[in-house]
Amino acid sequence: MTTAIDWLIDDGARAQAALKFKEQIQTPCEICGGKGYIVGDEGIDYDTAARPADWCVCRRKLSLLIRLMESGLPREFWQAEKVKVRRNKPAFAEIRRYIDKMENAVKHGLGLIMLGENGVGKTTASAQIVLAAIRRNMSVLYITFPNLIHLIRKSQGDEWLAEVLADLVVRDVMIIDELGKEYKRTGSAFVDTELDRIVRNRRGDIRPTIIISNYETVDDIEDGYGKSLVSVLLSRSKPVQFAPGDYRDEQAKEFDRLLGDGE
Ligand SMILES: Nc1ncnc2c1ncn2[C@@H]1O[C@H](COP(=O)(O)OP(=O)(O)OP(=O)(O)O)[C@@H](O)[C@H]1O
Ligand SMILES: [Mg+2]
Ligand SMILES: [Zn+2]
Repeated sequence: MTTAIDWLIDDGARAQAALKFKEQIQTPCEICGGKGYIVGDEGIDYDTAARPADWCVCRRKLSLLIRLMESGLPREFWQAEKVKVRRNKPAFAEIRRYIDKMENAVKHGLGLIMLGENGVGKTTASAQIVLAAIRRNMSVLYITFPNLIHLIRKSQGDEWLAEVLADLVVRDVMIIDELGKEYKRTGSAFVDTELDRIVRNRRGDIRPTIIISNYETVDDIEDGYGKSLVSVLLSRSKPVQFAPGDYRDEQAKEFDRLLGDGE
């Protein structure tokens, strides 16, 4: 019989990584012995506790990892809470306020429209929202607009993908990054309609949508994607402007620092 672990390693190109994973699974955590929870002095009261109060750290980590993967947030931004904000402090303060009041935001379907040039911190700020949502046990999706379009296109005539997409767009919080001029050119009436439909449905269901764009103003989005979308967005979202700046020097320094690693 094929066990679940055999199935995991029966995967050609990924076998190496899977073997390592198998080893990890078969070497139980030293703290809990692989049970995933720790029994305290009083033990676990299975009648009253919905779940044991003290999950072992190994289980917490695994659960966080799964949630991070499911959120779609690129690994590069998993540490976004650690970024020391040096610029665009007012914009980050606005994001902080949103995070602090996130229960209300979700309850009333309040979103944000983050606007600003490349490299000003928009994705970093949205990643902080993703991480905060995960901490609060909310379901959250981060997706770039080009990837969303790709998914929408592929899901046409593919029932399974259509179902996946339908599930993704009803998460508690949805963040659509990289809505930009460059993609508009490849866009179409179909794309406009789909984006409009998703955002409209979410508003109808009182679910917040956060849009991030390289456009500088809301008017520019209107020029690019139409009045209809902007009016739905504005009815429940607040624009947050990120100021431009040239961060290339800083990035070059960071490159040198990382390259010099281990010297
Ligand atoms: N205000 C800031 N303070 C400190 N670091 C920042 C700030 N803004 C951006 N950074 C750093 O600059 C890099 C780029 O930031 P980020 O990817 O969030 O920008 P972006 O606005 O999403 O850019 P793009 O439009 O190209 O996607 C990251 O490494 C981030 O940590
Ligand atoms: Mg970005
Ligand atoms: Zn453990």
